[in-house]
Order: sequence, then structure tokens, then C-alpha cells
Amino acid sequence: MDLEVLIDEARLQARVDELARQIRREYGPGVPVHLVAVLKGAFVFLADLMRRLEGPVSCDFIAVSSYGSGTSSSGEVRLTKDLDRSLEGRDVIIVEDIVDTGLTLSYLQEILRAREPRSLRTACLLSKPSRRKVEVKVEYIGFTIDDRFVVGYGLDFDETYRNVPYIGVIPGSA
Ligand code: IMP
Ligand code: MG
Repeated sequence: MDLEVLIDEARLQARVDELARQIRREYGPGVPVHLVAVLKGAFVFLADLMRRLEGPVSCDFIAVSSYGSGTSSSGEVRLTKDLDRSLEGRDVIIVEDIVDTGLTLSYLQEILRAREPRSLRTACLLSKPSRRKVEVKVEYIGFTIDDRFVVGYGLDFDETYRNVPYIGVIPGSA
């Protein structure tokens, strides 16, 4: 089934490049940045962002479940895989695919802040502000989009489409 292209590869790559340069500029050259990617959706964004970030960068992975197999949030967030390493004293950036209701990120920010990183910021490829249920601070946003269910570039519908190299919309979906 063909997807409708919402954000093509060239725009994605250009924006990720800009974000990486902005992050490096703000943290300063030579400052180690620790990226915490939220599995599974953020792994493609992480891979591109990390390769464009110059200087010392490390990464770790965390996984939460907030959605079942469909497209609507259950409203409940559960940690299903924890980090391998401590965050204490590090400059940490949470890397997430999309902020929708904000429930996942507000939960993650709260539990990760408790681990006493030196600083904690968040980078999200996509944001759907019209869907927000809780206010959450996201310092780096790739693209702001309308309330449509999107797939590709790591994002899935029922575990499919993660391999699509652009952000697309399933035809006929809202
Ligand atoms: P939130 O807790 O409602 O902000 O949901 C965030 C999570 O829901 C993201 O990490 C995604 O896994 C998933 N999600 C939200 N909107 C979409 C979408 O349009 N496509 C795919 N996944 C989505
Ligand atoms: Mg996710």
C-alpha cells in the first residue's frame, strides 16, 4: 500500500542536520552529550542525529509502552527496558520520535531527572501540539504537524512501516 508523503527524505535530513548543529552550538565544542533514545520509534532519528553531532557523543536506550497495537493512547506509561548506565553528572538529551499527548515524555523526564543528570533536555523529531494532554517542555523539535497518524522513519503502525525512509500517512486514515 502506498503512503502519502508528509515529510520527504531531503527535508528530514536537512532538519536533522540543523538540529545537530544547533545542539552542538548550544552545548559547546568538546562537551560530551549523552543521548537517551526511546525505543523503538526513535532509533532511526537517533542514528541520523548522532552521526551528525560532532564531538563526543554517547547513547543509551530506554523503552516504554504507552500504546497497544492501535493508534490511540491508553494513557498509561510503563517502563519496559531501563538504561544500561547511570545518568549522574551527564548532559543528557532524551531523543524521542514524536510528542503527542505528552504523557510518555512527561513520565520519562520525571524519572530521568531523579537520576541527577547535570542537565536534561529533550529532542523530538515530530510534535502534534493539538493532541497535548499534559504540558511538556521539548527544547528541540524537528517538525510540528497536524493531528494525523504518521508512520515511517522509525514510527510504526502495528510494528510495520518503521523502514520507510520518509514520514508518511496511511491513505484513508484521519
Ligand atoms: P504520547 O505519550 O501520547 O505523547 O505518545 C508518544 C508515543 O506515541 C510516541 O513515542 C509514539 O510511539 C506514539 N505515537 C504518537 N503519535 C503517533 C503517530 O502519529 N504515529 C506513530 N506513533 C505515534
Ligand atoms: Mg515511541
